[in-house]
Amino acid sequence: MSEERKKVTLRTLFAKKEQGVPITMLTCYDYPTAYFMEQAGIDILLVGDSLGMTILGYDSTLPVTMDIMVPHAQAVRRGSPSALLIGDMPYMTYQPSIETAIRNAGRFMAEAGCDAIKLEGGVEIADRVEAIAKVGIPVMGHLGLTPQSVSALGGFRVQGRGAEQAKKIVDDAKALEDAGAFSILLEMVPARVCKLITERAGVPIISLGSGPDADGQLLIFHDMFGLYPKFTPRMARVYGDAGKVILDGIAQYAEDVTTRDFPQRENWFTMKDDAFEELKRLLG
Ligand code: KIV
Repeated sequence: MSEERKKVTLRTLFAKKEQGVPITMLTCYDYPTAYFMEQAGIDILLVGDSLGMTILGYDSTLPVTMDIMVPHAQAVRRGSPSALLIGDMPYMTYQPSIETAIRNAGRFMAEAGCDAIKLEGGVEIADRVEAIAKVGIPVMGHLGLTPQSVSALGGFRVQGRGAEQAKKIVDDAKALEDAGAFSILLEMVPARVCKLITERAGVPIISLGSGPDADGQLLIFHDMFGLYPKFTPRMARVYGDAGKVILDGIAQYAEDVTTRDFPQRENWFTMKDDAFEELKRLLG
């Protein structure tokens, strides 16, 4: 736990890559969780469009919009002033045109105080990455399993197991770096491919289910604590069953109310006799 944290910057991340010190990254969608992540000294907080699934209960990330994302990013910024805060560009907020991409990236910076944005895709969106980076907004790339293309990728599955597909991911990583991405996230790519990209890259590579040899690791917060009821992916490590704690607590509360065990004396407030007598008099 750190009391006075130094602000995490791109320079911090590059220094960690250089020194071989792993970068820590988590998804975060709200103020209290951001507060805890700040206390724990997490380097990067990603306000992921995964909130469409983890928070809003959709089956995919596709229904998420900028108007949904911005208030979450604002809340996370309030909870964590020091972490490097990344806003995740939702579906169709950067694909249609370069101008759309710059405007929406700018919203994360201006309205939510983000430090960077993330978008999905390789060589086909390299012009967006270049344009956003050129206006001074740091961009993280995202390759491998890219949830906004889940339909085209044939579901939530490992990407790049075959040599041709793996080569495309390696080439995409190079294209993103050349376009000015400050970092690249590899999601569900074979560990050997991730290692190869990390060794070749001049920018920090972050792994989500892509093995130990990246410059940093990312987990989805809800997977870590049993908070996503539909499934827990194999790539996650579970650090506690907060879902069970919450369910047990809610069930106990329902029983306590039903049996009149709640509330107890310490849960309510009193009024002096004379004030109450006066109230009765006023009411006639
Ligand atoms: O939205 C998100 O949280 C993400 C992660 C799955 C990398 O993009």
